[in-house]
Amino acid sequence: MHRTIFVTTALPYSNGSFHIGHIMEYIQADIWVRSMRMSGHKVYFVSADDAHGAPIMLKAEAMGITPKELTNIYSKERPIYLNGFHIKFDHWHSTDSKENTLLSHQIYKKLKENNLIERRIIQQLYDPVKQMFLADRYIKGTCPKCKSDNQYGDSCEECGSTYNPTELINPHSTITGAKPLLRSSEHLFFKLSDSRCINFLRNWIETKNINNKKKLQDEVIAKISEWLGKDEKNSKLEDWDISRDAPYFGIEIPDFKGKYFYVWLDAPIGYLSSLKSYCELQDINFEELLDKNNSVEQVHFIGKDIIYFHTLFWPAMLHFSDRKTPDSVYVHGFVTIDGKKMSKSRGTGISPLKYLDLGLNPEWLRYYFASKLNSRVEDIDINKGDFISKVNSDLIGKYINIASRTAPFITNFFDGKLNFYNKNESLISEIKFKIDLISQLFENREYNKAIREVMSYADYTNQVFDISKPWEMAKKAKSGDSSSMKDLHEICSFTIGRFKAISVMLAPILPETALYICLNFFQIEYPLNWNDALILPQKIKPFKHMMSRIDEKIFSKLFEQNHKEKENMDLVTNKEFINIEDFARLDLVVAKIVRCENVEQSDKLLRLTLDYGEENYKNVFSGIKKYYNPDDLIGKLVILVSNLKPRKMRFGISEGMVLAASSKDEISKEIYLIEPPEFTKPGMRIT
Ligand code: 2FM
Ligand code: ZN
Repeated sequence: MHRTIFVTTALPYSNGSFHIGHIMEYIQADIWVRSMRMSGHKVYFVSADDAHGAPIMLKAEAMGITPKELTNIYSKERPIYLNGFHIKFDHWHSTDSKENTLLSHQIYKKLKENNLIERRIIQQLYDPVKQMFLADRYIKGTCPKCKSDNQYGDSCEECGSTYNPTELINPHSTITGAKPLLRSSEHLFFKLSDSRCINFLRNWIETKNINNKKKLQDEVIAKISEWLGKDEKNSKLEDWDISRDAPYFGIEIPDFKGKYFYVWLDAPIGYLSSLKSYCELQDINFEELLDKNNSVEQVHFIGKDIIYFHTLFWPAMLHFSDRKTPDSVYVHGFVTIDGKKMSKSRGTGISPLKYLDLGLNPEWLRYYFASKLNSRVEDIDINKGDFISKVNSDLIGKYINIASRTAPFITNFFDGKLNFYNKNESLISEIKFKIDLISQLFENREYNKAIREVMSYADYTNQVFDISKPWEMAKKAKSGDSSSMKDLHEICSFTIGRFKAISVMLAPILPETALYICLNFFQIEYPLNWNDALILPQKIKPFKHMMSRIDEKIFSKLFEQNHKEKENMDLVTNKEFINIEDFARLDLVVAKIVRCENVEQSDKLLRLTLDYGEENYKNVFSGIKKYYNPDDLIGKLVILVSNLKPRKMRFGISEGMVLAASSKDEISKEIYLIEPPEFTKPGMRIT
C-alpha cells in the first residue's frame, strides 16, 4: 500500500548559522525520506526558518538592522549547507510569512471558540530603560535559595533550584543593566490544564497511529507521562502563556492590540505554513491534503530538548482547532564530540561549513551519522578515529572495493557483459531477503542496524569472491581453459550483482554515489526503488573512481581549529598586565562614519571614512562586511584607534581601526561595533 507522508524537521531559529546538530537531524530525516520514497510512498518533506521572538528582535536591533534583514542573512546561506550535505527538502519557508500569520490566526480562533483561551493579568518584570517586559533569560540576579550571584531569572545554575524571576535578589536587566520594575500586563493563556486537554493527550499518547504503531518512543512516553500524570488530578500540566507584549517580533494577535503570539505558538504552525506554501506552488489543495479524515501521515523529527512543545502543546493545539494531529514524533539525542557535549565557547564542536570547505566528502558524514543512529533518544558521538575507520574500512575497504576488484575481469574478459548462468533466481532470492530486512530497518530508523546488515553482506560478497580465487581462474582462462572462463564469468557476475544490491541498500545514505554508479557504471535510471536491487545487471562500464579514502591529515584539520581557539583563550586569560602608561599610548577617539562602502574584491571588508573631529578624516578597512549593511552604518558613532600605524592593504591604506565586540565562537560569530553614547562628538578622546 502506498502511503502519503508529511515530514518535517524542527525549524531552526534564524539568528544563527546551522551547527552540526542541525545537520545531523536533517541527515537523519533526509535518509528516512529517501528510504520511504524508495518504497514508493509519496513524501512531502519541508522545513522553514523560525524567525520570530525576542532574541532575534534584540540581535537585529543591536546590529542596526530590521529582524527581517537579520533573518534574510541566515536564510540566504541555508542552501550552502543543505546542498552541501545532499539534504533535499521539497520546500523551505519562514514563520514570518503570510501563510503562517493566516494559519496562526485560524488556529487561535478555533481554540478560542473551544473556550481554551483565557485572559489573565500577570505581574512581570519590566525594563524601564528599554521599555519592554523581560523574558526570564534577560534577568539576572542573586539566587533566592543559595545566594549565588549572576543567576538567570528562572533557575540557578549553582544549586539547580527553579523560581519565579520576581524572587531573585537584586535583579537587573541583562539588556540595559537597569533594575527591573514589577508591572502588570494582560496575557492570553492556552488552558492546557483543562481536563479536556489532559484527557485528549492521555488518549493521544496511548493510542496507535494510522500504521498501528506507537506515536512516540518509549523514553519519550515515560518523560511526558511524568508531566501528564495518571489522571486529571495528578497532572502537572500548567496553562501556557501564549502572548507577549510589544515590542516583540512576531504575529500580532488579531483581537488583542499591541500583543503578539509567543514564538513557540507560531513556530510549529510553521510546519503547516511551509507545506501550505509548497502546495500553492504545486497547485495542491492544502486543507484537503491535511484534512483530519485523510490518511496523510504527519511525522516530525526533533531533538530531545523540545519534546514538551511537540508532544503536549502541539497535538493539543491541533486537536482543539479541528486539525489532524501528528502520527509520529521522532526524537533524537544531541551530537557530542569525543563524548563531550559541544560547547562553542570552549572551542569544541565541528563546523559543518568548515567540513565542506576542507573538501571532505559529505557522504562520509552521512554514512558516519547513519552508522550511529537508531530509533532511541541517544546522543550521537563524533570520534575522529571511529570516523576514519568507518569510511576507510567500511565504505572503501568493503563496499567500493567489491567493484574495483571485480569490474576489470568483466571488462577485460567479457566486454563488460554479465552472465548468471541460469542461477538468477537463487541470487535474486538472496538479495530479496536482505532488501526486505534492510528497508524495514530504514523505516524503523534503525540505521545502525541497517548498516551492520549491509556491511556483513559486503563481507560475505568479498569472501565468496576471495574463496573462488578468480585471479587463478583468469590465469587458466587466458591459457584457453573454457570452464575456468565460465567460472570466472559467473563469480564476477554474482559479485557485481551483489554490488548493485548493496548500492541500492546504501542509496538513502549515499545518494550521490548511487547516482554516479547508476549512470556511469550500470547505465540504469536513478532514483532507485528497493525493488531495483532485484533486477540483476546485464552489463557494466569500465570501473572508474567512485569514492576516495579519507586523508587523515586534512580530516584532522576539522578538529584542529578548535584547539587553536582554546589556545587563544588561554592566552587571553594568561595575558600579562599592562600599566596605565601602556594604556595611555592608545589614542582612542569618537568618530563618525561619513562614508561606507563594500570592498568588492573582499568578502570580509567594508571601507569606512571617519570624521574624527575638526574636519579630520581617516579611511579604515574593517572586517565587518558580513554583519553590517554599509548604508545602515552612515552617521553612526564609533571608537577609532587613531594612532595605529597605517597599514598598506591590497585595497588601499588602512589608517586606523574601529573597536568592536566579537564572540570567540567561530561557528556563528557575532560582531558588534562599539558605539559611544549619542551625545558624544567626533574628536572626543576616550580616557
Ligand atoms: O529549538 C529551536 O531551535 C526552535 N526554533 C525549534 C522550533 S521547532 C517548531 F516548533 F518550529
Ligand atoms: Zn542557587
